[in-house]
Amino acid sequence: MSHSELPTGESVTVESVTTQTEQGLYVDPKALTNHLPALHYCDEALYIEQVSIETIAKQYGTPCYVYSKQAILDVYQAYANSFASLDHQICYAVKANSNLAVLSVLAQAGAGFDIVSRGELMRVVAAGAEASRVVFSGVGKTYGDIEYALTQGIGCFNVESISELTLINEVAQTLDKSAPISLRVNPNVDAKTHPYISTGLKDNKFGITHEDALAVYQQAAALSHIDIVGIDCHIGSQLTEVEPFVAALDKLIELIHSLREHGIELRHIDLGGGLGVRYIDESPVSIEEFAAALLPKLSALGLTVFFEPGRSIVANAGVLLTKVDVLKPTAHKNFAIVDAAMNDLIRPALYQAEMAVIPNVLPNAGLDTNGTKAWDIVGAICETGDFLAKDRLLSLAEGDILAITGAGAYGFTMSSNYNSRPRASEVMVSEDRHQLIRKRETIESLYADEILWQD
Ligand code: LLP
Repeated sequence: MSHSELPTGESVTVESVTTQTEQGLYVDPKALTNHLPALHYCDEALYIEQVSIETIAKQYGTPCYVYSKQAILDVYQAYANSFASLDHQICYAVKANSNLAVLSVLAQAGAGFDIVSRGELMRVVAAGAEASRVVFSGVGKTYGDIEYALTQGIGCFNVESISELTLINEVAQTLDKSAPISLRVNPNVDAKTHPYISTGLKDNKFGITHEDALAVYQQAAALSHIDIVGIDCHIGSQLTEVEPFVAALDKLIELIHSLREHGIELRHIDLGGGLGVRYIDESPVSIEEFAAALLPKLSALGLTVFFEPGRSIVANAGVLLTKVDVLKPTAHKNFAIVDAAMNDLIRPALYQAEMAVIPNVLPNAGLDTNGTKAWDIVGAICETGDFLAKDRLLSLAEGDILAITGAGAYGFTMSSNYNSRPRASEVMVSEDRHQLIRKRETIESLYADEILWQD
């Protein structure tokens, strides 16, 4: 498939790609890749864009994260096209995948960025983006973070508490600057997602409650070095329905009207990120449907609209490649011990996330192949929670290369060095080209900054 033919967005009419048997779950690799624009099988071999997975595994080793440049750009473009009728800014949420190559590709396409730390802002600047197109979210911004962001000319602080508002004013005064701010409003809307990634409920640590927002805006208006520019919310991640977004927007619209009555005019509304993706059989609303549901209400407001999508832009642009090191069938369970582990990809362990594991080379007869068994795909880390997938029907041999799909978001960025394991390499593919975008860490580098105790 040529890159220009890659389809965009997620499908709504979801045909299941799985078969659940008593032994385990079979994910049909070919059917799955039909929904993943970056991936396809050609002559039984798996490709990302026009590069075979085998080529990448051979050249860069495993574990290795691989991203399709075109798949990232296509989703970004789907957002931009869907909101083209409005003044808008798509601020890619850096936390999903912060590799400089990914950031620079998006910056060149015109994206803004959503960041949550000084480190993320430094990355964005290093990737060549303008700080003025960056919004700074996060509940614990420090004096140093604010100072750095103001010096760089940050686009907007998404303020999450009165304490933060006061601190921003103080830093801005010291620097003799005016700080652009939005309040992150917590609309108390149930995002209907995993509790760890739900952020818009009053039990969550995020934002300023809807009830308090007007009073805090009035406080902000009275501060000497604060420039109120917008309103913001982010209710959670991996949302598959549009209703919670609409409910949050309604709450924000209510506030915008009462702010106007009190003489506070805003320039933008930021609806955060959170649109979900199809990992296996999920059926998230498409970007186009998401836009269709929000556009009428947004157009009526006459404000610039910001979004902060992370996962939906990069998740399905990426795979994690891993090699089967040891097969350990037992009477009770079969374990395939692979060279990636929870330190490389923590989503299954942390959120019970179900991600697809597909072979580099298709077996001849799919589910009926001789030798298909239910395998737990596990890492070599000393934790029972170290699994990447459980009870998956696969036909495996030692040395096989597997691809874990949907790994472009919250994969590498959440990886660690647990068990003194160097972090994986990262590669970007564009058409028939492939390029290393992060070297595999060396083991020596893991303890290079440590200092022996001196008696
Ligand atoms: N904006 C803010 C303020 C956020 O906190 C987040 C994500 C986003 C935007 C982007 O949301 P997205 O479009 O990616 O859903 N590690 C978890 C996801 C954590 C999301 C945290 N906040 C996972 O692997 O599922």
